Amino acid sequence: MDYGYFDDDAKEYVITRPDTPLPWINYLGTEDYFGLISNTAGGCSFYRDPRLRRLTRYRYNNVPFDVGGRYIYLRDDQDGDYWSPSWQPVRRPLESYECHQGLSYTTIKAAHNGIHAETMYFVPPGETLEVWRVQVRNDRDVRADISLFSSIEFCLWDAQDDATNFQRNFSTGEVEVLDSVIYHKTEYRERRNHFAYFACSELLAGFDTQRDTFLGPYRGWDAPEAVERGECFNSVAHGWAPIGSHHVRLSLEPHETRQVIFVLGYAENPLDAKFDPPQSEIINKSLVQPVIERWTDPSNVDAALAVLRSTWDKYLSVLRVSTPDEDTNRMVNIWNPYQCMTTFNLSRSMSSFESGIGRGMGFRDSSQDILGFASMIPSRARQRLLDLAATQLATGGANHQYQPLTKRGNAQIGSGFNDDPLWLIFAVSAYLKETGDLGLLGELVPYDNVEGSETSLYEHLGRCVRYTLERLGPHGLPLIGRADWNDCLNLNCFSENSGESFQTTENKEGGVAESVFIAGQFVVASRELEQIARALAKLDDATTLESNARRMVEAIERDGWDGDWFLRAYDYFGKVVGSRSNEEGQIFAEPQGMCVMAGVGVMDGRAARAMTSVRDLLGTEHGVMLVQPAFTRYHLELGEISTYPPGYKENGSIFCHVNPWIMIGETMLGHGDAAFEYYQRTNPSARAVISDVHRCEPYVYAQTIAGRDAPSFGEAKNSWLTGSASWHFVAISQWILGIRPELNGLRIDPVLPESWPGFSATRQWRGATYEIVVRQPLGVTGRVGRLVVDGKPVEGNLVPEAPAGSVVRVEAEVEPASSD
Ligand code: GLC
Ligand code: GLC
Repeated sequence: MDYGYFDDDAKEYVITRPDTPLPWINYLGTEDYFGLISNTAGGCSFYRDPRLRRLTRYRYNNVPFDVGGRYIYLRDDQDGDYWSPSWQPVRRPLESYECHQGLSYTTIKAAHNGIHAETMYFVPPGETLEVWRVQVRNDRDVRADISLFSSIEFCLWDAQDDATNFQRNFSTGEVEVLDSVIYHKTEYRERRNHFAYFACSELLAGFDTQRDTFLGPYRGWDAPEAVERGECFNSVAHGWAPIGSHHVRLSLEPHETRQVIFVLGYAENPLDAKFDPPQSEIINKSLVQPVIERWTDPSNVDAALAVLRSTWDKYLSVLRVSTPDEDTNRMVNIWNPYQCMTTFNLSRSMSSFESGIGRGMGFRDSSQDILGFASMIPSRARQRLLDLAATQLATGGANHQYQPLTKRGNAQIGSGFNDDPLWLIFAVSAYLKETGDLGLLGELVPYDNVEGSETSLYEHLGRCVRYTLERLGPHGLPLIGRADWNDCLNLNCFSENSGESFQTTENKEGGVAESVFIAGQFVVASRELEQIARALAKLDDATTLESNARRMVEAIERDGWDGDWFLRAYDYFGKVVGSRSNEEGQIFAEPQGMCVMAGVGVMDGRAARAMTSVRDLLGTEHGVMLVQPAFTRYHLELGEISTYPPGYKENGSIFCHVNPWIMIGETMLGHGDAAFEYYQRTNPSARAVISDVHRCEPYVYAQTIAGRDAPSFGEAKNSWLTGSASWHFVAISQWILGIRPELNGLRIDPVLPESWPGFSATRQWRGATYEIVVRQPLGVTGRVGRLVVDGKPVEGNLVPEAPAGSVVRVEAEVEPASSD
């Protein structure tokens, strides 16, 4: 089935039927105000923190899927026929339907019985509000009398409480209605100084703010009584469920178009000026009124849209590539960086698979998200690094998560995921390579946000490394703690009681389980930090880091190798995990990727053997599986991993996050064909033709694709918020195309498929523009042998940093790999 197509010029994916296999969602907003929006206008909005400042409700896991949204109803007042121009929730058949998922905006166009409606949703840059611009056109040859109803359902701010604490919530809801604006002010009378507003550009025929009045008893969003009868009830919510619905009557001459603008926003008042008059309970609207006036004015809306588009053009201009492969171009130039912005902003908090309640910002997740984002807006990456480091513990360990609103570590989860701190080094290093801003390292940052505990960021990084060194196990490999990157390998947490958290039930005192993955990760991180130390002329530190890394490599070679691949771990009893000698779970992908990235075994052939084992044992047409054979029964001593049925999630799905590590590993061995083939298998755009199998959005990566053991082999889940975004961007741009910022130059080190004649690219880096052309003679594979910079040959493959403002021409030629 065809569900749509890419419009690369418009930077859109155009969905051409509303009944996509799953809701295909998009995000509105890139700074403080965010919304989730599906192709049928489902979704909700929040300010900064999807748990603590939720503006509107969304019903997860509902039937039908995707209930709660930014719904418009149209009603033909001549015959009472009504429909949703976003198909849901009424689901009346439409004569035409298109949803344009664009960069931070969504436009839904639909026609029913000669009435065409086009609604564009977006957040004006810099604002804490969203605009819905609705254009209704009468395509009939006679006048049409149309009633237009808006609707949203307010969330009472704390999404967790809102979904559970009904004995209170059914009594607290409060609103105000003034002119064409509905204000939601639950708890404003007490400790909140924020409120939401839902405004309309037109004079109203009526409004509703009490959900069950608008819908009518025992009815749903698919058939509101107010819409059916063609008139609101002017209800004012007291308790129960406050909503916002405006009713606007439009009388349209033949072929006339009318525009109506709705604005949903978040506002705060100073604590001492909450009410007007001061002794009342009435919201002081003096600050918000000019904002509402501004955004209900169409000319401002059009101007903001233009700004939004040019902002995205600027972000995307950092790297533009032109390769022989359309799916590569589309992902690198548009969708992959777009997804990186989203993961940077939201970590793993809020998507159609993440409720926004359970998780804040993950330490390892956010650190890795920076790898794909630092080039886009370095200043925001910098701030995030400081925020993350401030949640690090004095031991060098890390709070596993923090809440974005408070920027405080999430005490419920705590720490003890022993890979966490090392990711901070990856992230800082990526930022430094992008910007050269070594000054970041001198910034004073506290531990766990405790005042007085500040040290330099550089010292924070030192503690990350020492944290591992102080926690080595019997084989000299790093202790795993509660889990490493693989959240579900909980080797010190034996859970026999249903309902327990596998990660926080750390019940094996003195747990000695070790992780070969962290060992590889430690080597990569130590080498990155070593380069940073050299850049700061801290040569003693560099020497120490170097020798620690060397010792870890020896430990991996001695006790982390299984004969044809790298082992995964040693469990609590000292038994091997991820070995041929295991009955199930013999080979895991992540240590293969990470150890080869660390350079382990590259010289002695082990790395190549590991990559061959990956291809033979873990490779599938949909990508590389995480583990094989998948676990068929519950292994108490391994933790959550074997709780998943075979082929799903950590138990042998194609865990997309790990695939780029394998790609990078292959490029390190000079295997361009293998690396690119893996890249194509997980590329969402290349998978668009199998949307009936893949089912998630074809424009973004998903966390997981069901593995060969699963009945739904090839089916993606958990799209959008995943480390796959950043790592795929790193793998394709820095390792396959090989344009790689380093501390003191731009490395040009492509490892391409043999059939490519080359490619060209433009990279903005530290204020200069690099116009890069790579040529690969027919039938040749190898590395760059000749580099010409502004007409002059350069030794090696490092382009020196050019002054800001300059345009640098780079020509690189691939030469055959020497056959020794
Ligand atoms: C999820 C988590 C990430 C973890 C991965 C593997 O993507 O967000 O932190 O590394 O699963 O378990
Ligand atoms: C990650 C894993 C998931 C696991 C969760 C635990 O998201 O992907 O399988 O249940 O972490 O926090």
